[in-house]
Amino acid sequence: MAAFIVLLGPPGVGKGTQAKILAETTKLAHVSSGDLFRENIKNQTELGRLAKSFIDKGELVPDDVTISMIRDRIARSDCEAGAILDGFPRTPAQADALENMLTEFGGEVDVVPYITAAESILVERASGRWTCREQGHIYHQTFSPPKKTGVCDMDGSELYQREDDKVETVTKRIRVYLRQTMPLVEYYRKGGKLLEIDGTQAVEQVTKELLSALNK
Ligand code: AP5
Ligand code: MG
Repeated sequence: MAAFIVLLGPPGVGKGTQAKILAETTKLAHVSSGDLFRENIKNQTELGRLAKSFIDKGELVPDDVTISMIRDRIARSDCEAGAILDGFPRTPAQADALENMLTEFGGEVDVVPYITAAESILVERASGRWTCREQGHIYHQTFSPPKKTGVCDMDGSELYQREDDKVETVTKRIRVYLRQTMPLVEYYRKGGKLLEIDGTQAVEQVTKELLSALNK
């Protein structure tokens, strides 16, 4: 049965960083709702215009459009063996929708790593983040700087700072996370799927703990 890994955790904790590494190691697809929205914004689609109006305010994009975007994405052939879900689900309604989709597609949520860190660390990480324009590779000006300022090591494209990484928007996103996404921690804990990971550790150590969880 296809294995889906749900990365849970607050904004800026390192979900995207770890998802990229895990996807490469496990050969599972990396499905990031935030990246999919940003791709739509870049391509100026109708979905992108709608999503931008919420993302810029630090609010969640409505469940119906988010769910149908993810459904289309995991229906693709590269998710046949499963995927690393980064940023989805983020509400109880999304978690229910995911269960239904996976029943239909013949998959299941395997494990839910829940990565945590204090708010001050989240703000520091998000506000120093630089993201690659082409493929969303992630850097930090202090913790993991690119070899050449402003240029992605992996594909040579331009690095930019996300609009929603301004301190006041990050703070708002953390509030929204606490209110709308935190209930999923209990939901997956009750289901016996939750695995807590200390996100304040170095990237390599977090990866090590994630991989050992996946191998169980
Ligand atoms: P999204 O893009 O998913 O943002 P997020 O969840 O707020 O998370 P981030 O991408 O900010 O952080 P991350 O955990 O991926 O951290 P990263 O690895 O980059 O969503 C954006 C918006 O889209 C939402 O606000 C919402 O509007 C909308 N949206 C998305 N999904 C949605 C959904 N399901 N429903 C409704 N709306 C949705 O790391 C951060 C920084 O820290 C980087 O600079 C990195 O280099 C550094 N770093 C990472 N790990 C470490 C470490 N261990 N030590 C030191 N530095 C580290
Ligand atoms: Mg991310």
